[in-house]
Amino acid sequence: MQTVSTLHDDRTVSKLGGLGAPARDASGRLLPEIWMQDGAKRVEQALARLLNAEDDGETELMAAMRYATLHGGKRTRALLCLAAGALADTPAHMLDDVGAAIEMMHACTLVHDDLPAMDDDLLRRGLPTVHVKFGEATAILVGDALQAHAFLTLSSLNAPGDNRIALVRELAQAVCAEGAAGGQAIDLSLVGKHVSLDRIVAMHRMKTGALVRASVRMGALCAIAEDPAHAALYCALDRYSACFGLALQVVDDILDATADNATLGKTPGKDAAAQKPTCASIMGLQAARQFALDLLRDAGEAIFPLGPRAERLAQILQRADAHLLKHAPCA
Ligand code: IPE
Ligand code: IPE
Ligand code: MG
Ligand code: MG
Ligand code: MG
Repeated sequence: MQTVSTLHDDRTVSKLGGLGAPARDASGRLLPEIWMQDGAKRVEQALARLLNAEDDGETELMAAMRYATLHGGKRTRALLCLAAGALADTPAHMLDDVGAAIEMMHACTLVHDDLPAMDDDLLRRGLPTVHVKFGEATAILVGDALQAHAFLTLSSLNAPGDNRIALVRELAQAVCAEGAAGGQAIDLSLVGKHVSLDRIVAMHRMKTGALVRASVRMGALCAIAEDPAHAALYCALDRYSACFGLALQVVDDILDATADNATLGKTPGKDAAAQKPTCASIMGLQAARQFALDLLRDAGEAIFPLGPRAERLAQILQRADAHLLKHAPCA
């Protein structure tokens, strides 16, 4: 099976170093494309190891779980975890598995989001969605099992019990009824309705922002407890992720209306076709675009006080900014 990892240039990565030995240019600037590529590759290797059915034989369920997790994706949430982890001096080996657990949970939400009872999508990451390829019942079970494997991964980490409990709680909070699951329920309830921007923003913060926030916090929580001594750090990270998480969904809404099939790896125009109110439909494309750019700028300002150790988090914002400007240019 070809994975995204096989698309990376291993020689370039190993020559220039990975998270353990960050690749910098002559003036000492961290090269974003190198650490992101290397980080994504390491998380994908962890996913392949953690979702390995060799002992039991490859069941169709496990094949479908690997299909849902190992074929592409920008790996934004895992990279957020790695970036926050680097900031907190979390050991790299721990981050790989935490990043993999986050990507499993993210894939679970995507597989369920694509189901006929939800968004009824046929294409994801440039491939047939899991229910199209494996059937609806298997897709439901893929989501269930990925969620369980995410928690299994966190609870099996080689880390003190308190750290593991903090990570499990963080991920559970992100996808519970007050997080992604609740946000998805609101999303479905708003189909065909005229709603305020505030309502959409609140929904986006739940369905997408909550897991983004957890991804950042989990990278830091591996090494730094959330205690009064670190209140300023967690406050900056929370402000960053609140802005970035919302921006991520606003950009997704904009690109749904503006980008093509090849860029999205998904069917374009789905939100309008399904009569989903989005930031783009309520504000108009140009205002939504400006809203997203402002949010990305605000996210950068939130981590400015953290100084150079937040460099990777800043580079993730720059990547999102460039992606938006490239695929939704100003009218
Ligand atoms: C898609 O997320 C769904 C949203 C919550 C916006 P991504 O755009 O991060 O999807 P992948 O992981 O890169 O495929
Ligand atoms: C999905 O939002 C958010 C999730 C929690 C999965 P969308 O429904 O807009 O995501 P895409 O466009 O299908 O990736
Ligand atoms: Mg959806
Ligand atoms: Mg969808
Ligand atoms: Mg979308």
